This record gives sequence, C-alpha cells and structure tokens, in this order.
Amino acid sequence: MTSGFRAFLLLLFISLSSLLYYSNLNEKLTLQKCHTAVPRRNLSILLWHWPFGRSYRLDGDKCLKMYNISGCSLTDNTSAVSTADVVVFHHQELGEAQSSVLHQDRPASQHWVWLSMEPPVNNANLAQLNGLFNLTMSYRRDADIPVPYGKTVLGGDELSFKAASNRSCLVGWVVSKYRPHQARAGVYQSLKEYIPIEVYGKWNKKPLSNKKLLPTIANCIFYLSFENSEAKDYISEKLWRNAFQAGAVPVVIGPSRATYEALAPPGSFIHVDDFKSTAELAAYLKHVARDRQAYESYFQWHHTHRVRTYTDWRERLCQICVRYPSLPASRVYRDLESWVNS
Ligand SMILES: *[C@@H]1O[C@H](CO)[C@@H](O)[C@H](O)[C@H]1NC(C)=O
Ligand SMILES: *[C@@H]1O[C@H](CO)[C@@H](O)[C@H](O)[C@H]1NC(C)=O
Ligand SMILES: *[C@@H]1O[C@H](CO)[C@@H](O)[C@H](O)[C@H]1NC(C)=O
Ligand SMILES: *[C@@H]1O[C@H](CO)[C@@H](O)[C@H](O)[C@H]1NC(C)=O
Ligand SMILES: *[C@@H]1O[C@H](CO)[C@@H](O)[C@H](O)[C@H]1NC(C)=O
Repeated sequence: MTSGFRAFLLLLFISLSSLLYYSNLNEKLTLQKCHTAVPRRNLSILLWHWPFGRSYRLDGDKCLKMYNISGCSLTDNTSAVSTADVVVFHHQELGEAQSSVLHQDRPASQHWVWLSMEPPVNNANLAQLNGLFNLTMSYRRDADIPVPYGKTVLGGDELSFKAASNRSCLVGWVVSKYRPHQARAGVYQSLKEYIPIEVYGKWNKKPLSNKKLLPTIANCIFYLSFENSEAKDYISEKLWRNAFQAGAVPVVIGPSRATYEALAPPGSFIHVDDFKSTAELAAYLKHVARDRQAYESYFQWHHTHRVRTYTDWRERLCQICVRYPSLPASRVYRDLESWVNS
C-alpha cells in the first residue's frame, strides 16, 4: 500500500464515521422534537373517597401549579368512573357498605389503586379486597406508588444548633392513642423509671395545637419517635415532623436499624434496639445530654442533608402520574392481604 492510498483510506474512514455519527445525532434530534411537539394526553385520576372525610380543592391544574407535575388531572367526581385512567380507593373508607362499589364493571385499561398510609394492624378486612386492585400506594418502598411521610434529600439546611443545656426538657413524647399492649408503651413505662419524660397529647390530657407542637418539642433534648406498631418501612411523621422539624434528637421504635439507616439522615437517630435494657438506654441519653460533642454529632447531617415531609393528599395523588409510565400495564393483587402483611 502506498502512503497516499493509506491516507486516502484513513480519510474515507473518518468521513464515513462522522457521516454516520451526524445522521445518528440528527435522528435523535428529530425524535426528540416529535416527542415534545405532541402534547401527552392528561392522565385522569379519580379519588373515590377523601381519606378520613377531609377534602381538599382540586380545581384548576393542581399537580402543575402546586408541584410542577404536568399532564395529571385529579378529580373527586365519581361520575368520572367510566372514563378515569386510574381510580384510587383509600382503605379506611372501604367498609362493608362499599363492597357494591368494588364489584362494579370497569374499563379494561383502568387501574384501581389501593391506598393506605397506615401500618398493617390498622388495615382491617383485607381478605375481601383480594383480586380487586391493580396497584398499591403506601409509605412502603416496594409499593407501586411509594408515598413516604418524609424523605432525606441531599443539600444541607440552615438549622441553628441549640445546645442541650439550652433546653428545659430531657425527653418529650406526644401520644394521642396510648395502648398498653403496644411495644412502645412497655418501653415508655420502663424508661420513665430512670429518667423524666414529658408527655403531651390527648392521652395525657395535654394536647398540643399545631402551632405549639414544634416549639414545645424544640425544648426537649430527645423526642420519642415511637411508632404505634413495628412494620416494614413504617416511619411516620413522628420522626420526620415531630423530631426532625422540631430539631430534637429522635429515639426510635419502629422498623429495623437497617431501615432507618436507609431512609433517615445519617447519624440522626438513637434506635431502642441497640440497647440491652431501658436502664442502658436511659444512661446513654443522660450521657449524650451532658456531652456537648456527643449531642452535636446527632446534628452533623444538617450540613449535608435535609428532610422533606409530605402531608398533602394531592401531592401524593400527583405522584401517581410520575410513576405511571414505569408501572406494569396489567397487574392484579390476587392476595392483597399477604402483600400488606409481608
Ligand atoms: C389537563 O388537565 C388540566 C387540569 O385538570 C387542564 O387544565 C389541562 O387543559 C389538561 N390538558 C390536556 C392536554 O387535556
Ligand atoms: C418544572 O418542571 C420542568 C420539567 O420537568 C423543569 O424543566 C422545570 O425546571 C421545573 N420548574 C420548576 C420551577 O421547578
Ligand atoms: C360530576 O360530573 C358530572 C358529569 O360530568 C356533572 O354532571 C356533575 O355536575 C359533576 N358534579 C360535581 C359535583 O362537580
Ligand atoms: C443558649 O441560649 C443563650 C441565651 O438565649 C444564647 O445566647 C446562646 O447562643 C445559646 N447557645 C446555644 C449553643 O444554643
Ligand atoms: C385490574 O384488576 C382487575 C380485577 O382483577 C382485572 O380484571 C383487570 O384486568 C386489571 N386491569 C389491569 C389494567 O391490570
């Protein structure tokens, strides 16, 4: 091969590959253009009952205006049942009286969503719901539409650290429904033998208004984020709002340490399971309260992480539209009861 011919081949190769590259790129560009030029049809979501009977306004494009989620239309008008893409049923309102609703005909492509933010013990009569639902929506990470009470996001916040010595209460707890058989009740009864615990809420006849809740807890060095039951991924506003938003260090009862590690900010909590006895837990709390460095270490995460809470049912409903494109087109929860209790 002469060097001229070699150079010719090289040139040919370069021009051919760049030609290929650009035609590929062009194809991508035109595809993208087509995609954005045709507006996607709205996904229509019907909420069958408002959870616990408290309704919110749905007029206008709420998902877009409130949460910047487009193509998502919400309604609570049950006449839309024959046209909605998705129908959402909140578990608590699905009593016996509603069973006729559940056995009505539905369009073949419509998805029915089972929604509950409660742990399994509070979801009664699940067996009658087997084989009716296509999707699940709950705080669980493995739900089709996961809607946690809160989550950890990257990027610090500006919480100013309040030293333990500047707080007037060692341990605080807000409880409205105290049940002696619950694990948390046993831990509380035993822990209070060693250290003072300030109890607020309906049970102790010291209810706190929404306005007073966080400022009251902010006076406490620790807060008992004790879930009413220990269930997979069940971490409620008792952690996200009551402890983290108030700036008290949470002492937790709930799912395993591994679950808290996966979901809560790093180094942000004290897990009851880590102690052999409540005496040991009490001694540890007293130690941390006296040791400024130890206490401050539970606030390190504020430099790198923030927590975000979710409370509005509309935001949860809008999440269906975010998840919808990646959900299975067809699915049935034949044994919803086992799924919930797993
Ligand atoms: C989608 O729904 C919103 C509110 O429900 C509405 O304002 C908007 O016009 C709808 N868009 C389409 C493409 O139908
Ligand atoms: C709203 O969402 C769009 C597309 O997802 C994004 O480009 C835009 O930055 C978002 N706007 C705000 C204010 O977050
Ligand atoms: C519900 O929708 C039906 C049919 O579109 C309509 O006639 C009715 O006025 C609506 N009800 C409410 C409360 O908006
Ligand atoms: C404790 O409170 C005092 C008086 O309000 C304040 O000056 C001080 O900065 C506080 N210290 C810390 C570490 O929060
Ligand atoms: C939803 O579940 C129902 C009841 O089992 C079933 O008949 C229907 O085919 C399912 N629909 C989809 C879209 O998966």
